[in-house]
Amino acid sequence: MIIALDGPAASGKGTLSKRIAAHYGLHSLDTGLLYRAVALSLLDRRLKLHDVWAAVALARTLDTARLDDPDLRRADVGEGASVVAKIPEVRAALLAYQRWFAGQSPGAVLDGRDIATVVCPNADVKIFVTATPEARAKRRHLEYQSRGLEMTEAEVLELILARDARDSGRADAPLKQDGGAILLDTTELDIDAAFDVAVGEIKRKIGR
Ligand code: C5P
Repeated sequence: MIIALDGPAASGKGTLSKRIAAHYGLHSLDTGLLYRAVALSLLDRRLKLHDVWAAVALARTLDTARLDDPDLRRADVGEGASVVAKIPEVRAALLAYQRWFAGQSPGAVLDGRDIATVVCPNADVKIFVTATPEARAKRRHLEYQSRGLEMTEAEVLELILARDARDSGRADAPLKQDGGAILLDTTELDIDAAFDVAVGEIKRKIGR
């Protein structure tokens, strides 16, 4: 069983994805971490995010055993990830791992931007998780505060809008709702309510 969760930054898809995976006993992959890992490797080596050759080489040799590095959660790494994610060869290099991951038994939940549209077009369940930019900025700001990061909510909103524009506007695998995906708007929902809606959709599709 493959469950695809796509959506913009701070929509709640990451938390939802882990919870669904735990509930059904499935593997879980936050695919944003792959793009973040490429960006972090470039930053660590003081290379430019637009250095296509280096970004592709790093994507091809990515160590997926190190996706728990806390530095991957840094704000600058998230921004960098959306820059390297525009490079088609980087996306191509990360595709095989994501498909392999999705094919594991007994199944997997993958969250990202292009899971339903590109990585797993045959996913059993497809959910597009979103929320207003303001609601997402509020959540991300709270998260940054809890990690001691100094940034105003307005600054976070600006970053979110810029990231949305980059992710939705790129030519290769842009962020968009797949025709077969249901829309889950979490603006007014807490995680429990969002989880209930997602499980309702999964039950409707696979009967449990
Ligand atoms: O989800 P997260 O914020 O960690 O993703 C970081 C960036 O990686 C996104 O803004 C997006 O540009 C890119 N990404 C992508 N495709 C995915 C997952 C993430 O392009 N499946």
